[in-house]
Amino acid sequence: MTTPTIELKPSSSPLSAAEREAILANPGFGRHFTDHMVTIRWTEGRGWHDAQLVPYGPLALDPATNVLHYAQEIFEGLKAYRRPDGSVASFRPDANARRFQSSARRLAMPELPVETFVEACDVLVQHDKAWVPEHGGEASLYLRPFMIATEVGLGVRPANEYLFVVIASPAGPYFPGGVKPVSIWLSENRVRAVPGGVGDAKTGGNYAASLLAQAEAATKGCDQVAYLDAVEHKWVEELGGMNLYFVYGNKLITPTLTGSLLAGITRDSLLKLAADLGLEPEEGRVSIDQWQADSANGTLTEVFACGTAAVITPVGTVKSERGEWKQSGGEPGEITMKLRDALLAVQTGRAEDVHGWMHEL
Ligand code: PLP
Ligand code: COI
Repeated sequence: MTTPTIELKPSSSPLSAAEREAILANPGFGRHFTDHMVTIRWTEGRGWHDAQLVPYGPLALDPATNVLHYAQEIFEGLKAYRRPDGSVASFRPDANARRFQSSARRLAMPELPVETFVEACDVLVQHDKAWVPEHGGEASLYLRPFMIATEVGLGVRPANEYLFVVIASPAGPYFPGGVKPVSIWLSENRVRAVPGGVGDAKTGGNYAASLLAQAEAATKGCDQVAYLDAVEHKWVEELGGMNLYFVYGNKLITPTLTGSLLAGITRDSLLKLAADLGLEPEEGRVSIDQWQADSANGTLTEVFACGTAAVITPVGTVKSERGEWKQSGGEPGEITMKLRDALLAVQTGRAEDVHGWMHEL
């Protein structure tokens, strides 16, 4: 597969340095975007072509563009961090690139070469480096690569044209209020994904399908929804945009990748990082009955959610049709916070990167 060279068409920033600094002081999540984006096209018979770095701006799409009707779309999420010496590094972009390829295969889309994905992210961060928040806090630059089917027409079949885009957004905490434990609504009837479906692909439809359950959770006073498996409605899978970890003293269990949950890169990193800290992480099945009973008998000491946007977020309260209970007294657990600090230390360059996860720019 040929890798196109990215042609640079930068513009000067539409914002003054002072305006940018004001945004960086309180970026929120996904509300502000940097000055540029990278776009690469794919056409059947021609492959990847027209790779460009251009000013950030709207995409013009014909109303009959395939993605608007049949949702042939995939995306990724990764972060770049400012290090103590002022340099910038992204976290495991190659892992996101490989997952993007896997999502592409599932959605019958062309696979972008790993090196092109990584280069597109690098070129964008290099040009918009001033948007990477300063070292010291928790803020980072969130990168959102995505691909859409751009063929015009209403036929239901894999498109013959696609557009790959990378945009970037300075990001503070995903949940407003910092590291505050979140409340979870345990959904026993609505499912996120089914065996043989697209639950392990990062495709927009999974998120669209989760919005009603998320809105229902909000009416119960909860921040997030935890989904169970679609067959037995028994086994805990994940949240709408995060994986889960269950802490039993020194032992950690994260739900096994059954095909209907996303193989989170944070989840994978924590399997390794927890072992480095002398903990015993493993993949396994956790049932809803077990979650409730082990919280009541005190053996399940902490539960946390993890993902690129959410980093590590403690679970404080669980609500379901079967009742409500607190997790680690509703406070952030000790192991949760230890892992959180260890992960952020690697990502922000405060700790040695023994696994070679950081990609310097
Ligand atoms: N599960 C879902 C459904 C997600 O959207 C995400 C976010 O990307 C995750 C889990 C966590 O994955 P990662 O750690 O790669 O961000
Ligand atoms: C991410 O963590 O990168 C995601 O894509 C999750 C999304 C809910 C923001």
